[in-house]
Amino acid sequence: MSKPNILTDVPNLNYSETSNYSNPEEFTELVKSRRSCRVYTDEPIPEEVMQKCLDLALLAPNSSNLQPWEFYWVKSKEKREKLNHYCLDQATARTAPEMIVAVARRDTWKRSRQLMLKAFSEQKEIKVADSAISYYDKLVPLAYSQGPLGSFGMMKRIALSFMSISKPTPRQPKSISDMRVWANKSTALACENLMLAFRAHGYDTCPIEGLDQRRVRRLLELPYKAEVCMAISVGKRADTGIYGPRVRFDRDLFVKKV
Ligand SMILES: Cc1cc2nc3c(=O)[nH]c(=O)nc-3n(C[C@H](O)[C@H](O)[C@H](O)COP(=O)(O)O)c2cc1C
Repeated sequence: MSKPNILTDVPNLNYSETSNYSNPEEFTELVKSRRSCRVYTDEPIPEEVMQKCLDLALLAPNSSNLQPWEFYWVKSKEKREKLNHYCLDQATARTAPEMIVAVARRDTWKRSRQLMLKAFSEQKEIKVADSAISYYDKLVPLAYSQGPLGSFGMMKRIALSFMSISKPTPRQPKSISDMRVWANKSTALACENLMLAFRAHGYDTCPIEGLDQRRVRRLLELPYKAEVCMAISVGKRADTGIYGPRVRFDRDLFVKKV
């Protein structure tokens, strides 16, 4: 008998999770009311709200549940002044009561893989699919290792191009830049969770990529493989905080029914 495939074979588990949540009107209002805010009042944000929203960010979907993100809530006054400056002194950073820097980690998957295997081993009540254990044990190292200077990635690229002749084959990540994209994708999803969470609590945000990546990395003492995905300013919008009505182009440019 062939081994179960985690992607195609549905495991027989003693677990089910239901949700009756449905509130499209509230969600529509939430999404529509999120605007990028460039000027804030100096009203402080309660610690509890900050922590809750950060917790909600961590619930974002992410690749293989390897959670390749970190969030630096910059509290030190000295660091904060530098961060404002490294965000090019943008008004949104300067006036924000709080700033969070979202960091993408293409290098923490090894730790996360071990944590997943540990979580599985501690899950006594609920059965874990053998295919899931095998996925983190065997497939994850194969999929995410790139080797010194991307050498293993290069070998994967060649092997995958042969495999893909006869069947659909996942082609990424097979290079260090693929790993950067990989980590940034999941981190950006968590950023959206974070921004919507703040909105739900009555606060505003602005994603910031107009920053000096190298200086911010040094400020946060990030390791070489860590990358600033974006900074996020947070606060209560000032009357002048939103610079104009929202502009979106014709939806036919973006939404394709195929
Ligand atoms: C990745 C990313 C980076 C951004 N960087 C900046 C920035 O550095 N400064 C800024 O004022 N706005 C920044 N924005 C906000 C965009 O300008 C804004 O989202 C866009 O104009 C649409 O407006 P809305 O968010 O109000 O819908 C950024 C947005 C994203 C998603």
